Amino acid sequence: MAQIKTDTEIEKIRRSSLLVGKTIAEVARHMRPGISTIELDKVAETFIRDNGAKPAFKGYHGYPATLCISVNEVVVHGIPGKQELKDGDLVSIDCGTIIDGYYGDSAFSFGIGEISEDIRLLMERTRESLYRGIAAAFSGKRIGDIGFEVQSYVEGYGYSVVRDLVGHGLGTGLHEKPEVPNFGKRGSGSKLEEGMVICIEPMINLGSRMVVQERDGWTIRTADRKPSAHFEHAIAIGKEKAEILSSFSEIEEVTNENIYIIR
Ligand code: MF3
Ligand code: CO
Repeated sequence: MAQIKTDTEIEKIRRSSLLVGKTIAEVARHMRPGISTIELDKVAETFIRDNGAKPAFKGYHGYPATLCISVNEVVVHGIPGKQELKDGDLVSIDCGTIIDGYYGDSAFSFGIGEISEDIRLLMERTRESLYRGIAAAFSGKRIGDIGFEVQSYVEGYGYSVVRDLVGHGLGTGLHEKPEVPNFGKRGSGSKLEEGMVICIEPMINLGSRMVVQERDGWTIRTADRKPSAHFEHAIAIGKEKAEILSSFSEIEEVTNENIYIIR
């Protein structure tokens, strides 16, 4: 069963998750065509350590970096490296931190410069599906209600929901119970209770939902090599609505002023 967190614990998860938003914003300030993904990873690691926190992903089951940077057909868990960003790319930045033993976790997808209308809409609707999932996440509802909202919204546009990866509980562990699929039936699954902390993270594909893992053991890409978008918030379940613990505010300050980056 999923843990119920105290207010003090929720505050710690919030602190950590807010730093994740600030870190992704700092990364966004450096995003432009020609920068390599490993350079962005260094920006994130330095920023997190300067803020007295630890990168949560580095060393997690042997993961080698601070960020997951997933470009175009890469869905999630892209390992930063020599790859350079270019005009027209869809780039998902996923980041986790640990402060005082508690995890923060959030992700945001960016478009670099002139992106296609297909990619712009995919990002916009994936982001909206996250907020629809959040709106369905309060005490008395069930896990399946979240997935139902995400799935029915995006499938209405002909997109597909990745099923092999799901959201999760968050706390002193990065991946706690329950699993939070982005697909499902209304009224199905375990009940949500006040004080649960979960991450909702829709991974939405322009084409088929099928994904494959690259030989590096991490990178997940679409089988048809069409683009995929990803957004993630950490939330606390409340009586009548969820409280969003992570934040996109700082990120959106950057996307609004930087002509290379579109949200
Ligand atoms: N945000 C990702 C998730 O929620 C974490 C990346 S997993 C890691 O599953 F292993 F790369 F850290
Ligand atoms: Co997550």
